[in-house]
Amino acid sequence: MPKLTVEDVGTFDVPQDKRLVNALSDEAGIDQLHACGGNARCTTCRVQFVEGEPARMTQAEKDVLAARGLTVHPGLRLSCQITADHDMTVKAISRLAGSGRADAGKRPADDIQPPPAWTQK
Ligand code: FES
Repeated sequence: MPKLTVEDVGTFDVPQDKRLVNALSDEAGIDQLHACGGNARCTTCRVQFVEGEPARMTQAEKDVLAARGLTVHPGLRLSCQITADHDMTVKAISRLAGSGRADAGKRPADDIQPPPAWTQK
């Protein structure tokens, strides 16, 4: 079972291959934003990797990070496009508290959406 560490929050066991965005909400219990419902459109599910950044990346994540000019930030990734398949440590940098939003967004599906086309970072 992979371990997810969220800086200043704690370390949590996460079911193998669970979507990271849902693990942040369910296991870590934080108010992670996911405004587009986990569809690689909004980038509010972003996290900052400290350790264990995955080498693989969905084409959808790659495209939206590039379109938003976010590739200049090393370690910034979209939690809705990542599965918990190994130990990882992240900073939660996009939370409901202080965002001014009414809610965190519709709960993302259990599986990565859109269906992932895997590429390398
Ligand atoms: S890009 Fe919108 S929830 Fe991930």
